[in-house]
Amino acid sequence: MPRSSGRVVIAIDGPAGSGKSTVAKQAAQRLGFDYIDTGAMYRALTLKVLHNGVDVANGPSIKELAAQTVIEQEADLEGADVVTFLDGEDVSCEIRLPDVTGAVSAVSSHPEVRRILVERQRYLTGQAEKGAVIEGRDVGTVVFPDATVKIYLDASPATRTKRRLIDMQASGVDVDLADVADAITTRDKLDSTRVASPLQIAADAHVIDTSNMTIPATVEAVVELAKEAGLAGPEV
Ligand code: DC
Repeated sequence: MPRSSGRVVIAIDGPAGSGKSTVAKQAAQRLGFDYIDTGAMYRALTLKVLHNGVDVANGPSIKELAAQTVIEQEADLEGADVVTFLDGEDVSCEIRLPDVTGAVSAVSSHPEVRRILVERQRYLTGQAEKGAVIEGRDVGTVVFPDATVKIYLDASPATRTKRRLIDMQASGVDVDLADVADAITTRDKLDSTRVASPLQIAADAHVIDTSNMTIPATVEAVVELAKEAGLAGPEV
């Protein structure tokens, strides 16, 4: 079985609302791989930054905080999702609140902060027994530049906005379409224009536009790429 730095890694990058999380989770479950959500790790650190009243623009202070922070991820009981722990506390719900979403791009823009979280991401991936599906913005370009399979999921801004709105409404957050569209545009801009590890398509990534694809079809496409790379047998 081909390995990447000793590990089997499927790296999935893409902007907010591209379907990354849902697809990565389901593909990991099909393949029997661990699922690692790097965005949730930046969100967990952001939650701590906000709780501690640290300025989101203050990279050195955030780095200090990050160095004293333990962020862990574990599969939930059904193995269909990941639970994110911040210093031992389950923060999976809190990290999705609008305050965190509004501040996470600023917190994740500091190179010294990213270095700490990237190390943690590599460590967690190294713990995976069989292999890992890891998703984020820079996992195929920076975290695992030699990942076995790299995928970039994309979708039109209108589709991504609609998906995000539905997700937020489903989790009980009261928002309107224009606000979600604004938030997505702002976050796209910050995430793709920052100096440290901006959102980019890796040269060897398979680009999948999910605008007109269902989730099961997208998961199937990812599993097919894994099979082509020899990471799974025909029975999967
Ligand atoms: O995937 P998400 O929406 O949960 O990610 C939240 C933010 O975290 C995203 O706007 C930018 C940042 N992020 C990052 O900088 N690098 C990653 N690998 C993943 C997320």
